[in-house]
Amino acid sequence: MVVTEQQSLADMTTMRLGGKARWVIEVATNDDLLLALHFASERNLPWFVLGDGSNVIAKGDYEGVIILNRIAGFEKIDEDDASATYKIGAGKVWDAVVERVCEANFSGIEAMSAIPGRAGSTPVQNVGAYGQEIADTLVSLDAYDTNSNEFVTLSRDDCEFSYRNSVFKNPVTRHHIITSITLRLRKTQMTPPFYPALETYLGSHGVTDYSPQNVRAAVIAVRAEKLPPVEKIASAGSFFKNPIIDKATAEQLLLEFPDAPHWPMGEDKVKLAAGWLIDQAGLKGFSKYGMAVYPKNALVITNQYATSSSDLEQFKSEIIDIVRDQFGIILEQEPEDLSS
Ligand code: EPU
Repeated sequence: MVVTEQQSLADMTTMRLGGKARWVIEVATNDDLLLALHFASERNLPWFVLGDGSNVIAKGDYEGVIILNRIAGFEKIDEDDASATYKIGAGKVWDAVVERVCEANFSGIEAMSAIPGRAGSTPVQNVGAYGQEIADTLVSLDAYDTNSNEFVTLSRDDCEFSYRNSVFKNPVTRHHIITSITLRLRKTQMTPPFYPALETYLGSHGVTDYSPQNVRAAVIAVRAEKLPPVEKIASAGSFFKNPIIDKATAEQLLLEFPDAPHWPMGEDKVKLAAGWLIDQAGLKGFSKYGMAVYPKNALVITNQYATSSSDLEQFKSEIIDIVRDQFGIILEQEPEDLSS
């Protein structure tokens, strides 16, 4: 267990904002995690668990304990004719997990290639890309329950997954620290139709064998075109959720904007593309306060040289206002705020 003081939150989050964290503790095992929680409670301090900080926006200083989850583990625990089940430590780098699983020729997470972050963060916002989401393969997860003070196993149903959401997403009500995830992967390949961007890439490159490794390679190429590399450009990936609105409101909007991409969500809801709305509002490349709308993808906000989260707040409000004035839709931030 490594304990440090006064570390920069900008160095721990991919949007590269925020001040200093009073304490930072890196935990490699469940026992370390208990020690870190004890360290915080002894000092009467709040704590916050971070993976790679790729979906968390830091604001100012954090007068508490940042727990960096680095719990290891990668084990095939079961295999039958149709599937293989892996138990993966929450601190494993997610894309390294995807790579290993694809090399072993198992399907289920290949479309979630090249997503930044750690395995244990994927259930929090039900990470998804190109038609797959973690809720599809996750069978259970192990976590520490900070209400009952014990390690527990939660089933997929316990996680209450929905679009970019789970029981873990709300920092006020959540009371679990994920320590491992258990995924059941298939031996059968993905089948067409694929998500449009992926379909186009596979078609234009003549790929007809949809092996996990081929799909992974295609996803990596497609993402590289549309998403800024976190190592080089500060961002938190998609900055807004795709809005889910009433069917009646959507029908009204589609009369005026028949080209708006949209997907039915159950009987009476429709999902719109936030990136399309921002793009149509003419905001691609828009920059102010040291922040910018990524020119290749309007859903992504990049931090060019801002150092304060208030710069992001102002920039975000202007985007929300412009989109609301033009379309009557109120966009919501997708990454979580780290606040005391
Ligand atoms: N679009 C535009 N202009 C833009 C961006 C998008 O017109 O600048 C249009 C696209 O042409 C498309 C639609 O909007 O018709 C949807 O765009 P895209 O297919 O690129 O996907 P997305 O909805 O923008 C979601 C996830 C991404 C994920 C991709 C691929 C959310 C909030 N985002 O983006 O996740 O990689 O689908 O599956 O659901 C992330 O969460 O950080 C992330 C990158």
